[in-house]
Amino acid sequence: MAQARDQWGSRLGFVLAASGSAVGLGNLWKFPYIAWDNHGGAFVLVYLACIMVVGMPVMMSEIIIGRRAQTSPVPAFGELGHPRWAFVGWLGVASGIMILSFYCVIAGWSISSFVQCIKWSVSGYDAPANDAFGIFLAKGPLQLFLTATFMAITAWIVSRGISGGIEKATKILMPVLLGIMILLVLNSVSLSGFGEALRFLFNPDFSEFERHGVLEALGHAFFTLSLGMGAMITYGSYMKKSESITKASAAIVALDTVIALAACVIMYTVIFSFPEMKSQIGRSSVGMLFVTLPQMFYTKMGLGVLLGPVFYILVAFAALSSTISLLEVVVALLVDKLNWTRVKSTAVASGFIFFFSIFCALSLGASSWASTFEFFGTSDTGLGAALNNRFFADKQGFLALFDHFSANWMLPVGGLFITLFAGWVLSRKTSAEELDMVGPDGSTHWIFRTWLFFVRFVAPLGIGWIIVRVIMGEDFS
Ligand code: TRP
Repeated sequence: MAQARDQWGSRLGFVLAASGSAVGLGNLWKFPYIAWDNHGGAFVLVYLACIMVVGMPVMMSEIIIGRRAQTSPVPAFGELGHPRWAFVGWLGVASGIMILSFYCVIAGWSISSFVQCIKWSVSGYDAPANDAFGIFLAKGPLQLFLTATFMAITAWIVSRGISGGIEKATKILMPVLLGIMILLVLNSVSLSGFGEALRFLFNPDFSEFERHGVLEALGHAFFTLSLGMGAMITYGSYMKKSESITKASAAIVALDTVIALAACVIMYTVIFSFPEMKSQIGRSSVGMLFVTLPQMFYTKMGLGVLLGPVFYILVAFAALSSTISLLEVVVALLVDKLNWTRVKSTAVASGFIFFFSIFCALSLGASSWASTFEFFGTSDTGLGAALNNRFFADKQGFLALFDHFSANWMLPVGGLFITLFAGWVLSRKTSAEELDMVGPDGSTHWIFRTWLFFVRFVAPLGIGWIIVRVIMGEDFS
């Protein structure tokens, strides 16, 4: 090894970077709309169960693997276990490429929403036409430009390294994000729909719960915590031995969950406060973050002129600290395995991923081929149609397909192998040492034994059961 491995510079460095990775569009854009589509309450409960039963143990497993191996996922599995496990790392790299390619497209919308809000704040609000968002999505060159801009900012930060790039950036991004979030929640309390929003979120009604909901909740637990593809293995590999993995994991999981729920409270409060918003949502809940919210800022809220632009800074910051971690997984692989410089690795990785982004950016109307693409063909009958239904929930277009397939299939499958590895391949001694839970007499702490039980049995059986049930076409309702 030529050089000492770069490390997080401060105690908070890892926690900030890792929670920056976790908190992102998953919390602000995706969770509010999937929880809405799945009728709130019951789905939220299932999701919280997935976070506790699967999310937390897998989070600890990934960090243990990374910090022990001190290298990126592909070589890490080989070093700690057997080279045949390297496929889990490769699967993660593939997931990272897929996720980042569509994530940058959506992240790019935050830039244009920000610009739009500034315009409204300066020269007065003029209500956009009903189909304005659709028209915006179908502008190919604009979409490509926004996506490329976001990818370039991400690459610039990643190219500057761990302590000097990622840590420095997240140290600014995360506190700003938290501050804005608190401001917005306080603002919601004063609106009339606040109570109904809470009821929708926390009052479960299982009669409305549907089959894909369980897999969606599980997939989202992985997505929102950045698990199942080795992002936390990579970040963990830069962590100092003196820090507590358990405490850091608990902090990341708690922060991510609180922010996801707060984002729902903010958005649902608006929807329930202004009845005309609800009919808007009916057409596409996906646009909640970018359509409903800006309208509300400028028509219904005194402070909207200020909160509007500020809010999209929040979205952009949250997205940026996540795209950084997605790119870092691929860059770390090139640095560790091919010994390339960080700058060269970043340039090659981001360029390669942007190639896939092109398909995603044009799949929202700009190209009708890309927008209606289905993996197993567009026929409505036969095996292809059945496979499209089972694996892609009948979604169409590259962005929707990448999103659905990576989150609902690749991350849970990756997570399954990661827990099996942590539970059954890593020695008890190794993981107990990393968690700092062995006494001088060799006895282990109860938290360690609980964790081991979860990664050996509960998490793999839970994930496996859901995957098998969904493949068999089980109806969960
Ligand atoms: N967790 C991020 C979000 O909620 C997305 C993300 C960043 C991610 N890095 C990841 C998802 C690694 C899976 C794996 O927006």
